[in-house]
Amino acid sequence: MEKPKRESLIRELKDYLIHLKDVGYTEIPCEAELLANATTQASLPPNEMTKNKSLTAVQKELGDCTRCKLSETRKNIVFGSGNPKADLVFVGEGPGADEDEQGLPFIGRAGKKLTEIIEKGMGLNREKDTYICNIVKCRPPGNRDPEAEEIEACNPFLIQQLQAIKPKVIVALGKPASSTLLGRSVPITKERGTWHEYAGIKLMLTLHPSYLIRFYTLENRKAVHEDMKKVLKELKK
Ligand code: URA
Repeated sequence: MEKPKRESLIRELKDYLIHLKDVGYTEIPCEAELLANATTQASLPPNEMTKNKSLTAVQKELGDCTRCKLSETRKNIVFGSGNPKADLVFVGEGPGADEDEQGLPFIGRAGKKLTEIIEKGMGLNREKDTYICNIVKCRPPGNRDPEAEEIEACNPFLIQQLQAIKPKVIVALGKPASSTLLGRSVPITKERGTWHEYAGIKLMLTLHPSYLIRFYTLENRKAVHEDMKKVLKELKK
């Protein structure tokens, strides 16, 4: 193998191992099933996007899910909401207390901020112009970060949601969503504002609305504003 190719493979492998560590693995998952369901982009060939089920069929398959331990503590599954034919999909981390209570994504404080970004910032209508979901569909207790196994268990449903909607642009909100969609550890404050691809779909990384609320600086507000301007420009192409 040529040296540059080897070096690039080593870099990718290193990034993937850092991602596994970040999402909670203490050893390398090597069971066939885990590898088959890996959250890496590599597990989703571009042509997979053509074999799509409807969102309703995906939700039916999810059912009253007990595939991970979040099912033991959740009140409601938060599948997603918005226009199933939207050109724009936002992917967050996981439901909080309000979302768990009502079974709808982004309806608490972070949700109000996200709605403000979509409606005031971008001039779009949240329900008509977007679809919103999370990498895990059940609330992690105490709003802790979702664990690797929980993300793995939910990932087939996220993939199928995106396959069903086939948006023009996906926006990953924050580090866990960005890392899950890209299959590597993403330093979000460094990589926000950059374009990527997820199974042939344009993917923009930006800060999570909760981060924006917590660190409500002019710099962070400007950053999200700039990222959303890029998204609008791409949507209008
Ligand atoms: N934060 C998220 O990432 N998702 C929600 O649905 C709510 C808050």
